[in-house]
Amino acid sequence: MSDTEFSAIAEIAHREAGLVFTQGKASLVQSRINRRLRKLGISSFSKYISLISSQQGENELKLMISSLTTNISSFFRESHHFEILADKVLPKLLSYARAGGRVRIWSAGCSTGQEPYSIAMTICSVAPDVEALDIKILATDIDENVLNTARVGTYSEKELANIDSNYRNNFFSKTQNGSGTDFQVTNQIRNLVFFRELNLLRNWPMKGFFDVIFCRNVVIYFDEGTQLSLWPRFESVTAPGGWLFVGHSERLPEKLDTHFQNVGPTTYRLPNKSNTSAELE
Ligand SMILES: C[S@@+](CC[C@H](N)C(=O)[O-])C[C@H]1O[C@@H](n2cnc3c(N)ncnc32)[C@H](O)[C@@H]1O
Repeated sequence: MSDTEFSAIAEIAHREAGLVFTQGKASLVQSRINRRLRKLGISSFSKYISLISSQQGENELKLMISSLTTNISSFFRESHHFEILADKVLPKLLSYARAGGRVRIWSAGCSTGQEPYSIAMTICSVAPDVEALDIKILATDIDENVLNTARVGTYSEKELANIDSNYRNNFFSKTQNGSGTDFQVTNQIRNLVFFRELNLLRNWPMKGFFDVIFCRNVVIYFDEGTQLSLWPRFESVTAPGGWLFVGHSERLPEKLDTHFQNVGPTTYRLPNKSNTSAELE
């Protein structure tokens, strides 16, 4: 891949998904795009760039972005967020839901589902009556491939390593995968989560507010300008008193013009007012 071809691909990835690839990532980009070329039987990077720049290449453009995203995730990653969720966030939200209120949680950049399912397990462990309550988790990602994996909700034993044995017994059922055993999240957990494709750089079609937003280890791949434009957008869809959890190496800049207050490690909150929640479409 020539420097010009790398720059063209990097420019498209930035424009379409906010992703930043510096020259140091050229060999990674090249190997991921090479796989697409082999799959399509295309002989040169320049032909591939012409394809993804054309109208017929719209679907391939999505597949290219999908091939360039980093999808690493795990259950109960950055576990302090789930402790805050159980101890500080859910008690009030559950009282509100039990009084007939609507509670909405958003996992933005959910990858293969471990994050929204960890949220769902945390809720079910403190609210066995969850099925009677109006609580929903919206889980979105730009990458349709990871969403398909997430919707199935089946994981290897290794992927369950961080999960408490009570959770494993209560919230997973065993399935056969040919050579061994996999674990699928139960319907009780799956029914709480709604997966949708959504590019954070584009329009957000949800109506209303979220009580809690997880956007962790996503904006780290974006340039600073894109990050700065996202925080006020998150504020605009967060309910008064609502929470925002970000990844371990992500921060809202101190001088940022939002009302989010830093209330714990990588944990932010809006000041309280009345309470209203988001409508899932
Ligand atoms: C490293 S994973 C983080 C998964 C999970 N939040 C966690 O912390 O374990 C980052 C995810 O962000 C998604 N992503 C990247 N750019 C995006 C964009 N512009 N809009 C929505 N999702 C995006 C990727 O597809 C990927 O699944």
